[in-house]
Amino acid sequence: MDVVTTIAEVRSATAAARAGGATVGFVLTMGYLHEGHVSLMAAARAECDLVAASIFVNPLQFGAGEDLDAYPRDLPRDLALAEAAGVDLVFAPSVEEMYPRPILTTVAVDDVTARFEGATRPTHFAGVATVVAKLFSIMGPGRTYFGEKDWQQVCVVRRMAADLSFPVEVVACPTRREPDGLARSSRNVYLSAEERAAAPVLHRALRHGAARIEAGERDPAAVEAAMAEVVATEPLVLLDYAAAVEADTLVSPARLEGEVRLLVAARVGTPRLLDNVGVTVPA
Ligand code: PAJ
Repeated sequence: MDVVTTIAEVRSATAAARAGGATVGFVLTMGYLHEGHVSLMAAARAECDLVAASIFVNPLQFGAGEDLDAYPRDLPRDLALAEAAGVDLVFAPSVEEMYPRPILTTVAVDDVTARFEGATRPTHFAGVATVVAKLFSIMGPGRTYFGEKDWQQVCVVRRMAADLSFPVEVVACPTRREPDGLARSSRNVYLSAEERAAAPVLHRALRHGAARIEAGERDPAAVEAAMAEVVATEPLVLLDYAAAVEADTLVSPARLEGEVRLLVAARVGTPRLLDNVGVTVPA
């Protein structure tokens, strides 16, 4: 596995691979890798000739007062996990390499960013879209693997790639969970033992919402209230939102139909945790 820190090195490695007819797969991460990240690398490994991964804690997507400085980091461990997952090339740039000057150009995706995470973190998705556009530009044409865990991020990245005609196919991969249902997340390390024990209520709420739809419920407000009731059984978990929306647009429909996404976010002690599941409503 090659580990490089400059944009020029990534460009020449991926260009050489493509010139030899190889397909390039890439996984974008902020490091502190866990099984969720590794599953994206494995999906890329299964489908692409050259697998590249980036490890970069992107300051642009953290708001004032968020956990940028405290964000967990462990590059030696990340490199061992990436290598074991079959990654060929790791790009681990410094902030100076990515942003040598204050950035004047940003990518704003409207509408799909307005609610949910975008409402709580107003500058977050512009920071994500900007770094993702930059990394797409650095990696060049290929396939990229994103986790459904951050469903709104998938919607934002897909829309940006389509709107700006990036030569990149965005593949969404299933959320990896702990045995008790908690979605794996780098931020789970912030949970105390009691908070960790309470946190799986988010996935239970989503499963309950999905079961209500499967039992015939088509009113989004009723599904949302049912999910909120489940979350309310855990006093340590402070619900931010529980929503039933159209999967691609995140619009709240009058009646649930087609591809629906159930989304929850809650503060559990220090971290905010996110989770979601998809439900296909039969016609
Ligand atoms: P990060 O939180 O490190 O996540 C990197 C990728 O791993 C994202 O696509 C995320 O959805 C995926 N992922 C995280 N937890 C997962 C899980 N439990 N199961 C499956 N996939 C999971 O998301 C980011 O970084 C950043 O916003 C980034 C896209 C790298 C831009 O800076």
